[in-house]
Amino acid sequence: MVNNIINHDCLQFLQDYQGRSFDITFFDPPFNQNKEYNSYDDAKNPHLYWNWITKILKLISNNTTTGGAIYFMQREKNTKLVMDSLEKSGWRYQNLIIWKKKTSAVPGKKRFGKHYQIIAFYTKGDRPRLFNRLRIDPPLKPNEKIPRESGVYLTDVWDDIRELTSGYYAGDEAYRNSDGSRFHKQQTPISLLTRIILSSSLPGDIVFDPFAGTGTTLIVSKQLQRDYLGLEIDSTNIKLILSRLSIIRKSDNISKIREIYKYTNNLIDIWSIEKEFKERKFVTQSSANLNLFTRN
Ligand SMILES: C[S@@+](CC[C@H](N)C(=O)[O-])C[C@H]1O[C@@H](n2cnc3c(N)ncnc32)[C@H](O)[C@@H]1O
Repeated sequence: MVNNIINHDCLQFLQDYQGRSFDITFFDPPFNQNKEYNSYDDAKNPHLYWNWITKILKLISNNTTTGGAIYFMQREKNTKLVMDSLEKSGWRYQNLIIWKKKTSAVPGKKRFGKHYQIIAFYTKGDRPRLFNRLRIDPPLKPNEKIPRESGVYLTDVWDDIRELTSGYYAGDEAYRNSDGSRFHKQQTPISLLTRIILSSSLPGDIVFDPFAGTGTTLIVSKQLQRDYLGLEIDSTNIKLILSRLSIIRKSDNISKIREIYKYTNNLIDIWSIEKEFKERKFVTQSSANLNLFTRN
């Protein structure tokens, strides 16, 4: 069952699941904000929605190794509901990560413009089974005159990863329909998943994604030699994920991100260069054009 993407409802799937326990889960459900989805009602009664989320979180916890991690991504306005649902389903708090988008915020008329999303990092039990302390080397601020010798430890504020917006900055990574619109409005950047998976897993661990969307978690897991299991309810997305996994596009190739973590002490253990994916063929964006996947 591992290294698989399954076209199924995640709640139903988890109720019967008897496979290997998950070491890390990336949890990025539909936000319930009336977004357009093919196979899903994104405007549920909020009470029903959060009950549904809590049930899924509980089943994931039942199927997670002791100390295994979950990263739950949501809008900041739902922070309390995210934390309540994780705590009710037995998960233990580690961090509330602020993902400050590199894009500019839309100015608010009656409140501050919103500039970040949250990622709640919890574990099964008080102690993480492992935590890799990543080091990065962000540009020096004007008041920091002395260059660092070996970067700094990553904190809970991540402001160096750009979201895949609909405009120019989305670049090649965002899948598009033939009219230029984005194929999936919630496609997560590969840089974000690389950071999460590197922090809380080792090669050979199993990464779970119950709401796989465009399969970002699986694409990154595969390149980092983690095993993966993804679920997605929409068969059009499944088609895309299978293609995305079969030939890794240049824009999905994570080797370019490795440099960012070069000061991490155990980088060689968590991102083994010898076994890296580089011998595989990468395709350019034009030959992997998503016109193939145009939605009906
Ligand atoms: C926010 S998106 C995830 C995006 C993903 N992180 C990516 O990088 O593309 C949520 C996804 O969950 C899927 N979904 C909604 N309900 C589901 C369910 N009950 N079981 C499995 N997948 C579901 C939707 O079709 C959608 O693609």
